[in-house]
Amino acid sequence: MIVTESLSKVFKVGFWGRRFPALNDVSLEVKEGEIFGFLGPNGAGKTTTIKILLGLIYPTAGRFFLMGKEGNSNSVKKGIGFLPENPFFYDYLTGREFLNLVGQLYGLNSDERINKMDELFGLVGLKGAEDLQLRRYSKGMGQRIGIAQAIMNNPRLVILDEPMSGLDPIGRKEMRDIILKLKDEGKTVFFSTHILPDVEMICDRVGIVVKGKLKAIGKLDELVGDTLHSVEITAGGLSAEALKKIEKVSDNIIKRGKKVLITAKDNEISSNIVSLIQKSKGELVSLVPQKRSLEEYFMEKAESE
Ligand SMILES: Nc1ncnc2c1ncn2[C@@H]1O[C@H](COP(=O)(O)OP(=O)(O)OP(=O)(O)O)[C@@H](O)[C@H]1O
Ligand SMILES: [Mg+2]
Repeated sequence: MIVTESLSKVFKVGFWGRRFPALNDVSLEVKEGEIFGFLGPNGAGKTTTIKILLGLIYPTAGRFFLMGKEGNSNSVKKGIGFLPENPFFYDYLTGREFLNLVGQLYGLNSDERINKMDELFGLVGLKGAEDLQLRRYSKGMGQRIGIAQAIMNNPRLVILDEPMSGLDPIGRKEMRDIILKLKDEGKTVFFSTHILPDVEMICDRVGIVVKGKLKAIGKLDELVGDTLHSVEITAGGLSAEALKKIEKVSDNIIKRGKKVLITAKDNEISSNIVSLIQKSKGELVSLVPQKRSLEEYFMEKAESE
């Protein structure tokens, strides 16, 4: 659906035209029907990449293909829906008037518009708010009407720039559900974000971009891996003697009241500790394997040059 080959973008800034590389040699592929999360901190180059794909700015170097065609031709644009980062709407139009206008711009006839609007208000969860002016919409409702306008033309590819930003946890959950519905309808969704849990929950694959460079791309479990990081054991009622023995195998023990939190580096150490606890008639409260999180992975990538 999307292929980029060594995309680079250099902005010239200020009077002297200082060169600022916003995007550096980014090659990625987004397959048909998947939800792809484009992850990166502020200023990483996410919006720049999206603007290039939409033909709003030109790359300095490299090329890209959308739906198998090079560049951004008009025929390809027809198949793309887009929600910008900070959308502005016509405040005094109602939701219905706004979508009707969008439908007219797409060239839909009156019946098609009415049917489509009915379907979309349901899909994005704005039933009942159709006749409210957009200036009365909350931030979350604004994002939802933004999605509705993006898919008015039934696009194959939906590009969303930070659809979850500024939303509360409920709003984010609803946005995730909408994105999953788009996938169910067979659409490909490419969205940018810096909110890790949103990516973890719904994306088939992710790309991590930092300072204009693509640091990693792939399935989440492949990137993060399911290798064990450590095991956290909580125990209670341990004798001083048992504690001494455990201290010999784990160098990370935290005592809190009658309970102790012990960190074991691997499974072997962990089972040693468990048998020590059982032998001393202590109580095993919990045993939690710690896997590397996307957050740790992300921080690692963000810090490495
Ligand atoms: N027109 C421009 N002229 C000069 N520099 C620009 C221009 N547009 C973007 N930049 C710079 O390019 C870098 C990448 O910007 P971009 O908007 O792509 O980041 P982003 O990943 O979308 O960040 P955010 O999460 O804050 O939206 C930033 O450092 C930004 O200041
Ligand atoms: Mg951005």
